[in-house]
This record gives sequence, C-alpha cells and structure tokens, in this order.
Amino acid sequence: MSITEKEAQFGRIVELRRAIHRRPELGFEENETAALVERELDALGIAHRRIARTGVVGRIVGGVGGRVVALRADMDALPILEKTGLPYASEIDGKMHACGHDAHTAMLLGAAAELQSQRDELAGSVVLIFQPAEEGPGGALPMIEAGALENPAVEAIAMLHVDSRLDVGTIGIVPGPVNASADELYVNVRGVGGHGAYPHSAVDAIPAAAAVVLALQNVVAREIDPLASAVVTIGTIAGGYRNNVIADEVKMSGTLRAHDPAVRDALEERVRRIVAGVAAAYNVDAQVQVVRGYPPVVNDEPLAKRFADYVRANSAVRVERPQPTMGGEDFAYFAQRVPGLLIRLGVRSESSGAVHPAHSPLFRIDEDALPVGVTTLVLFARSFVAVD
Ligand code: NI
Repeated sequence: MSITEKEAQFGRIVELRRAIHRRPELGFEENETAALVERELDALGIAHRRIARTGVVGRIVGGVGGRVVALRADMDALPILEKTGLPYASEIDGKMHACGHDAHTAMLLGAAAELQSQRDELAGSVVLIFQPAEEGPGGALPMIEAGALENPAVEAIAMLHVDSRLDVGTIGIVPGPVNASADELYVNVRGVGGHGAYPHSAVDAIPAAAAVVLALQNVVAREIDPLASAVVTIGTIAGGYRNNVIADEVKMSGTLRAHDPAVRDALEERVRRIVAGVAAAYNVDAQVQVVRGYPPVVNDEPLAKRFADYVRANSAVRVERPQPTMGGEDFAYFAQRVPGLLIRLGVRSESSGAVHPAHSPLFRIDEDALPVGVTTLVLFARSFVAVD
C-alpha cells in the first residue's frame, strides 16, 4: 500500500470510530452498530451473517485453502454520561463508549479491508467476529453457541483491548492468565428484629454482618497463596430501619475474582465456610449465593510467544509485557475453546489527554493507536494464514 493509500485508510478508520462513538449502544441493542458493520463488509465484498441477535460474523476467503483464524471485536457501550467534551462525543445521554469498543470495531473493519485486499496471498480464511454485549450480559457465549467458531472450524483467535496504561505505539502481550474470573457474591444475614433498648430479646443482624465482612478479609490475606491472584470485595451492604430498632436482616453483595480456576473454586468454598462459621457464632442465619460470571482469560502461551516474536520481526510495533489485570472479559469463552490471545493496545498519551482509565466519563484514546491496532490484527491473521 502506498503512503497516500495508508493515510486514506487511516482517515476512514478514524471516521468509522467516531461515527460509532457518537451513537453508543448497550448490550444486545447494537442495531445501528451492527448495521454499520454490515454496510462496510458489503462495501468490501466480504460475506457475512447475523447471529446472536446483534452479532455479525464475516469471512475473508483466501486464494488457497488452508488454516482458519478468527479476529474478534466487541461493539457495546456503557451506561455512563460522557464528560470528555470531544467534538464527536456521545449524542445519547447516559450512554458512552468508555471502554474503547468503538475503536475495537473500527480497527477490525480496518483489518478486514487490508486482509480482503491481500486475499490472494492468504492460505486459509479469516473469520471476523463482531460481538455484542461484552459489558454484560455477555455476547461471546451466545455467539459460540450459534456457531461463530464453526463452518469453517476456527483454529486460533485474537482480540485487541485498548489499555490506558500503555503508551500509544505499544502493544502488550501477556502469556497465560491476562484477565480474571468475575463472580457475583450475595450474602443475606438474618437475625430476629426487636427494640434497640432490649438487645437480649432479639438477634442483631448488624454486628453479625460486620463480623462477616471482617472475616472475609482473611480469605485473601490468610488462605490464598500470596503468589496467586485473588480479590474478595464487598461492594454493598444494607440493613436496618432506624436508630432504635434492631435489624432483622442485612444484605451484602460483592465480587470474587481469580486468575486460576482452582483458586476461583477455592474462593467460593472458603467464603461459604467463613460465612457459615460466623453465622453460627453470632446465632444468625446466613445464605450465600455465588453467581458465576466470566471465567478467567488465559492466553495460550506458545501462541503468545510466537506472535510477540513475529511482531518484533515483521513490524515497528513495540511489544511489552504488562501486568495481567483483575478485570473480566468474556473473550474467555473463545479462549477456552481454541488457542486465544487477548492483546492490549496502548492508547495513552499526555499530549492528546488520553490519560483516564476505561469506564471513566473522561476516558479517551489517542487515535494514533488505531493504525497500530489494525497492523497488529493483520499481522496476527497473516502469521497464521499467509503464504510467506
Ligand atoms: Ni472493554
């Protein structure tokens, strides 16, 4: 591609990203976004189909048969009121692309354009997965169940996620666990209500709940290997009626996170044991409910190593190895089925004001990251299916 073609392509990706940014849509409501994706794929001559309501799967068929690789982008936004003041800020009050999924979608379209133009040199197929509802309730599993990884059978998959820790021009590749499981915890403590002046005639749920919160801090501090990663957070606590009434019930909710599936199971088992023990000590009844969310994302180690070497040998993109995070990502389901790679894309720069973390109402990216992301996706696909 010539320099002017490159510039025109960059301009198009910025335009697409801003168009998506202006019209953020929440999980499974990505109708406009999916329609934009379909229009672009049509213009490129790439066949596609609609699955899992607002999900789109396209396929670039190479000149020679061969391997099958998939690239995935998420398309949904968050229920956040944007405060960036950017000229292309959200036009929909209370909805914002604050996690960069607008950029993910635009970059996958950019990569699709480039790979489609090189299709004669491709020995195999590139499956393009535009996924809804990553921020919840989860679009990856419905897409897999609807056959996103079949016909043709996908052999490896990659995705990009913007990362405000990394400078623009850089990508991050972490072999092994890269994101955590995210399970919901609900604890309901029940005592017997009564008059605040006569505690001996009631069973107070408040001190029992306080003891539960403190005791749960021991799970990570004293029961999990310090070299493993785990989080137990109680995020809400509510109970009671007024100053002189003994509360009969306290409800709490929280999140349990881990990188290792065995640690994930251990967390749940220990939380249940500690809550039951404290409840017995305080003579209250306690119910624990754990709602399993996304599993941990585990990058395939040989794939991660091979691709990091490939990028260093074939491009000017800088490769770093950042710390994994305790955030969740439903790409985990894809990476459970085929070797997967979640690649972090640096979007930080002081000069463009891109310093706020994802999910902030001030979140923004340095758009110079967009061509880096496109190059990275194209390299991943080529490293798998190119005739070199
Ligand atoms: Ni995200």
